[in-house]
Amino acid sequence: MSYMAQRVQHYGTTIFTEMTNLANEYGAVNLGQGFPNFAAPEFVKEAARAAISADINQYPPAIGRSRLRHALAAKYARHYNMELDPASQIVAMHGATECLFATIQSLVDPGDEVIIFEPYFDTYVPCVEFAGGTPVYYTLEAPKWEIEPDKLAALFSDKTKLILINTPHNPTGKLFSRAELQMIADLCQQYDVIAISDEVYEHIVFDEAQHIPIATLPGMADRTVTISSIGKSFSVTGWKVGWAIGSAEICTAIFRSHQWITFAGAAPLEEASAAALEWADETGYYAQLQAMYQRKRDTLLSALNEANLPVITPAGTYFAMVDISELGFANDRDFCTYLTKEIGVTPIPPSFFYTTPNAGTDLARFAFCKTDEALAEAADRLQKLGSSSC
Ligand SMILES: Cc1ncc(COP(=O)(O)O)c(C=O)c1O
Repeated sequence: MSYMAQRVQHYGTTIFTEMTNLANEYGAVNLGQGFPNFAAPEFVKEAARAAISADINQYPPAIGRSRLRHALAAKYARHYNMELDPASQIVAMHGATECLFATIQSLVDPGDEVIIFEPYFDTYVPCVEFAGGTPVYYTLEAPKWEIEPDKLAALFSDKTKLILINTPHNPTGKLFSRAELQMIADLCQQYDVIAISDEVYEHIVFDEAQHIPIATLPGMADRTVTISSIGKSFSVTGWKVGWAIGSAEICTAIFRSHQWITFAGAAPLEEASAAALEWADETGYYAQLQAMYQRKRDTLLSALNEANLPVITPAGTYFAMVDISELGFANDRDFCTYLTKEIGVTPIPPSFFYTTPNAGTDLARFAFCKTDEALAEAADRLQKLGSSSC
């Protein structure tokens, strides 16, 4: 008899483990997993060391350290003109991942429907299933990933409790446009639905594009939970400091779950995150981050173009999708395995980010949050593709 509870029996290990093992076995440049393999800013690391030395080492308040909540209120006012009460509208948690889990456990009852755009970040579906909710999917189609109003409207009903959006979007690199957000906002208000907006890539956008939080649209402040975290913006994905922002009523609900999941975050890292957020606005850090990622994106795009891989230009995030439909492979897994073994570069097969059978099998996702040396090495190796017969 299996000791495993039914609720987890159908989840396997993630595709990232499998592709990383393969990359290691073949000595491939790993452009699969979405974490920076370069150093975090010195100021940010020093802030964490200083917090530990200052003995900020005991449980923080369960909703997060006061300095962090005040730094977040200042950041959202400055960047997005959002007015937040740090005492009642911000809950700091263990990364965006816990924010998503706690928010969904606190808002979804068994039988409720949750609209999810696929491809999706892989935690969304288990979060909804654990709460007893039913995911309902809108499939974004390459290469434009645009939302068709009628197709989206058809998914809303009296059963819909939440819609989960992610902008900038992993893995497509799509930035939701103001018109798309307005369409979603109108439907949320018509059907009394709450939007959860995962904005962890908010500071990684390209070519003058603008990230728009859906919470800033008329009528949405009180029916949106905005989620973000420190990991992507400061190259510290291992810190797992995140936050959920919403009305006082919704934050009270979120807290009810959070108190039984982790109760509180990591005090010195919350303190250091507050320092990082304050420092970023004092020094113009976000513009430097964008310039760095613009350069890395452009390096990868030209390498893929030179290798004759049809890449879809991302407007944000540190991922780029390649259309492999004309390359003669049976599916995305075969392509990613071939590229790892024969060329020495590892992307991720995106079909794992879809529920619809066979969706995403004609795509491959490359991460460019890697050192310039790793990207140059990948570019070099990809040149072999032009001369090989795949
Ligand atoms: C879209 C998206 N949301 C959330 C997360 C997780 O964020 P955190 O590390 O803060 O839990 C990731 C990490 O890859 C992500 O890509």
